[in-house]
Amino acid sequence: MTDPAAIRGRRQWPLPKLADPTAPLLLVDDLAVRFRMPEGSVKAVDGVSFRLDDGEALGIAGESGCGKTTTALSLVRLLPANGRIKSGKVELFGIDLVPRTEQQLARYRWREISIVFQGAMNALNPVRRIGDAIAEPIEVRLGQSRDASRKRAGELLELVGIPRQRAAAYPHELSGGMRQRAMIAMALACDPAIVIGDEPTTALDVMVQAQILRLLEQLRRDLGLSLILITHDLSVIAETCDRVMVMYAGRVAEEGPVRRVFSAPRHPYTQKLLSAFPNIHADRRTLDVIPGMPPDLRNPPPGCRFAPRCPMAMPVCTEVVPPEVRFADGVRVACHLYPTADAATVAVPATPARGIGT
Ligand SMILES: Nc1ncnc2c1ncn2[C@@H]1O[C@H](COP(=O)(O)OP(=O)(O)OP(=O)(O)O)[C@@H](O)[C@H]1O
Ligand code: SF4
Ligand SMILES: [Mg+2]
Repeated sequence: MTDPAAIRGRRQWPLPKLADPTAPLLLVDDLAVRFRMPEGSVKAVDGVSFRLDDGEALGIAGESGCGKTTTALSLVRLLPANGRIKSGKVELFGIDLVPRTEQQLARYRWREISIVFQGAMNALNPVRRIGDAIAEPIEVRLGQSRDASRKRAGELLELVGIPRQRAAAYPHELSGGMRQRAMIAMALACDPAIVIGDEPTTALDVMVQAQILRLLEQLRRDLGLSLILITHDLSVIAETCDRVMVMYAGRVAEEGPVRRVFSAPRHPYTQKLLSAFPNIHADRRTLDVIPGMPPDLRNPPPGCRFAPRCPMAMPVCTEVVPPEVRFADGVRVACHLYPTADAATVAVPATPARGIGT
């Protein structure tokens, strides 16, 4: 395991002024996000907590609409206009980003945390040369000269495997894989500590997908990046991430080391998710075999939000929100099957390992 202190020591820039050098890289605590809609408020994220350490890769999984993108956008405070962080903390080096003004946030967004948006490769400005698109944030956010920014853009293109001569190309002159690499180069422009990839390989064919994942892995190793990787593809998480956080209906169902969670899932939703995804070597069916639908987040069910679809639901599940239980092996689960008092000794349900990523 890479030494987090050594990774922080590799930073090009000093830590932000307000940073606590002893604090974790990123600590999200009890985050709640709402979207205002004419028919009521959407409780898109409700009490999400997690931690990301230097050099670590965290995967976020879960069905469509479970709040993955909303969580990611909250970290960089780029929610759509009708969204707001209702409560909770997003601490970067111990600095809570939630109460910062837009101007204060400029010190952290892109420079410390950057994001490759979901579907972004098709959102590149079609009349802008990719070299210019990558150079702009370097010039604007880091205040570097035009020449220095262009030079750095060329280096970044090379870093992501695009010859620097292609800097003059327009997006339509590049393949999908190259456009996605260009997006990654843009996310790396200000040499951030954390890169969030929201479905960064979804629209790509399997070979290109594998190349992009190898690239992220290599960047993580070489630059000491920390990654948050959002994907429906559990095999991608198995191959790329140290830890996985499974979300359901705006909450964390289960979180922990990938190997532990994928070989012995404890939350009934994680179990369903994994059995809907048979094996990396078999066909990549997605999540449609879980019977029923996620709840309407304008009016989610009380108690456990998975209860209407859970084969193991008990009377308490429809009334009481399951508290989070931490196990000795670093996994935490929010489910009434696991009493809080003796979590460490509770037997793990005998769900066969699915061999994801093996
Ligand atoms: N701008 C918005 N206004 C209202 N509701 C929204 C808005 N954006 C997202 N939502 C709702 O918030 C919830 C979480 O959405 P989010 O996009 O975070 O899910 P996701 O896990 O990223 O899904 P996907 O896998 O499809 O990308 C969903 O119920 C969604 O309908
Ligand atoms: S709390 Fe109850 S309904 Fe929810 S996942 Fe656990 S057993 Fe199922
Ligand atoms: Mg999304």
